[in-house]
Amino acid sequence: MNLNHISIQTTALLLFGTALLCGCGDTGESSSASENSALSAKAQRIAAMKQVTDHHSFARPEEARITHLSWDANVDFDTRTISGCATYDIETSSDAERIILDTHELTIEGVTVDGQPATFALGEAQEHLGRPLTVDLTAGAKQVSICYVSDPGADALLWVEAQGDQAPFLFTQSQAILARTWIPVQDSPGIRFTYEANVRVPQGLMALMSAENPTAIDPDGRYSFRMTQPIPAYLLALAAGEVEYRSVGQRCAVYAVPSLIEDAAYEFGEMEDLLLAAEGLYGTYAWERYDLLILPAAFPFGGMENPRLTFATPTIIAGDRSLVALVAHELAHSWSGNLVTNATWDDFWLNEGFTVYFEQRIMEAVYGREISEMLATLSYQGLVDEVDAIQDLNPDDTHLKLHLQGRNPDDGMTAIAYDKGYFFIRLMEETVGRERFDAWLSDYFATYAFKGMDTERFVDYLKTTLLADPSTLAAVNLDAWIYGPGLPPNCPTVSSPRIQNVDAALAAWEAGETSTADLPWKDWVYQERYRFLSNLADDTSVERMTELDDAWEIGGTGNNEILFAWMEQAVRSGYQPAYPRLESFLIEVGRRKFLTPLYRAMKETNQMDMALAIYKQARPGYHAVATGTMDELLAWN
Ligand code: BES
Ligand code: ZN
Repeated sequence: MNLNHISIQTTALLLFGTALLCGCGDTGESSSASENSALSAKAQRIAAMKQVTDHHSFARPEEARITHLSWDANVDFDTRTISGCATYDIETSSDAERIILDTHELTIEGVTVDGQPATFALGEAQEHLGRPLTVDLTAGAKQVSICYVSDPGADALLWVEAQGDQAPFLFTQSQAILARTWIPVQDSPGIRFTYEANVRVPQGLMALMSAENPTAIDPDGRYSFRMTQPIPAYLLALAAGEVEYRSVGQRCAVYAVPSLIEDAAYEFGEMEDLLLAAEGLYGTYAWERYDLLILPAAFPFGGMENPRLTFATPTIIAGDRSLVALVAHELAHSWSGNLVTNATWDDFWLNEGFTVYFEQRIMEAVYGREISEMLATLSYQGLVDEVDAIQDLNPDDTHLKLHLQGRNPDDGMTAIAYDKGYFFIRLMEETVGRERFDAWLSDYFATYAFKGMDTERFVDYLKTTLLADPSTLAAVNLDAWIYGPGLPPNCPTVSSPRIQNVDAALAAWEAGETSTADLPWKDWVYQERYRFLSNLADDTSVERMTELDDAWEIGGTGNNEILFAWMEQAVRSGYQPAYPRLESFLIEVGRRKFLTPLYRAMKETNQMDMALAIYKQARPGYHAVATGTMDELLAWN
């Protein structure tokens, strides 16, 4: 693709009042040569300055961008470093004099352009962003190669020490802007590239990436990878550990350490059904295989949609397949996110809102509407709670379209992007009807596959397609949802009779009208149990907690969502018998979604001594994403 063409095309669009993103120049629109020459060089430069940019990357893709990565790397557990060379094929505008990449605490050892030593400079570090690496280009340059070493404290990486007979483990978490802590790269979601890699890891470990993967451990610890579909840098991923491979379907397998492989293979035995259901809804799966890697419990998220290989927390292994919605969610990202990608982190809701919607559709297709409506009810509750929590402090953060410039993009990871996003998409579905909506959605994914999408362009697209009819457009009220605060009045309502029954049972139990023995806990599925426990009154007494624990042995549950809801209430009630489990849980598990409410509950109930004592022990095992949040919450120096 000719980049000269892009900036001119951008100029032309800007003259018509439309902002275009840098980093997703491949718009599919075109402009004629005469239009191009009509614009002076100066006008072009000015227009280029006005482009909507990704504020979280130093890259200037309109000048020079990467298109393919060839990575050679060595993973060293002793020094906790990844070292190697990243060689990029590049595309440049005809007058490009440099290419800019993102780095964060990388040591750059040498740079070549087309095989010749090149001049480069590392700019000043900026908070959250790291340092720009500017490489001088010779005319017509085709390839840039950067040799480097990562920092032992690199934020993307978690090095898990060997323990007893457990081998060490390394995993990366690149989203949102942490890829640059382990590889110099144009780290913007609007910039895509294909890749291949040669990676060396210690003997006895398997290396896995977001790419075509091995299925067995190589005796020399040498692995080769290929990703032939273009992806943005936040989907670059690497893991190394003593893992086994177990096929669970034609296109699906699980990878896990030997002690978990059996349980994981059972728990996710229905993955292929989810994949088939997803394809039935929105079109062919674009990534060939869909495998799942079970990570150490320190993984800071539930799941991460690395292409071809979702990374997941082991806390979703419940023994009864009750937490597979998370797999449906990560699988859904194979369309919303990995295929059509938020162009900047201000547009994060385009990734997550669609994905929650699609997750629920997959769950409905495989497990029925009763289950998916229970999930939607829980999603609604999460949303209402989130709006309550942030609308006074920071009302702008309740808009779908965010303004994260100067901030950590992680701040955008709230229930707004996920659940307000979900209800907005659901509103559109309900307004136009499911049949029309599904057809539109398939079209949308097909039209923008392997491209970036920003909120404004999405709104334009909606207005000329799904919402072209003025009365439909008015009924939806895009502006209120996307650029307005809180929950608009036309938010769809969810009705789940089963959840209503739980609410009624809880009210009756709290009023003393129903005894503990009469509660139908045994008949409840996970969603119902979770609803009951998470809605217990904050001041539930120790006596009543004891009654529930005696009746249901909740502390011994294998379902970590239920255990979590129980422990949070135990902290609020001061129910001490749960504290040993709380402590061991917090030391073992690093999933931020659990940590934040548990530590916060201790803080809010004047149990800071306990919080700090546990945190001191647990902190060295957590990933930087989790310590970032917990340090702030607990005012840890
Ligand atoms: N892509 C996200 C995780 C993420 C978001 C990492 C932003 C870093 C920055 C992933 O798909 C996700 O949403 N995970 C959720 C699970 C889901 C079922 C809501 C999680 O980990 O809790
Ligand atoms: Zn997600």
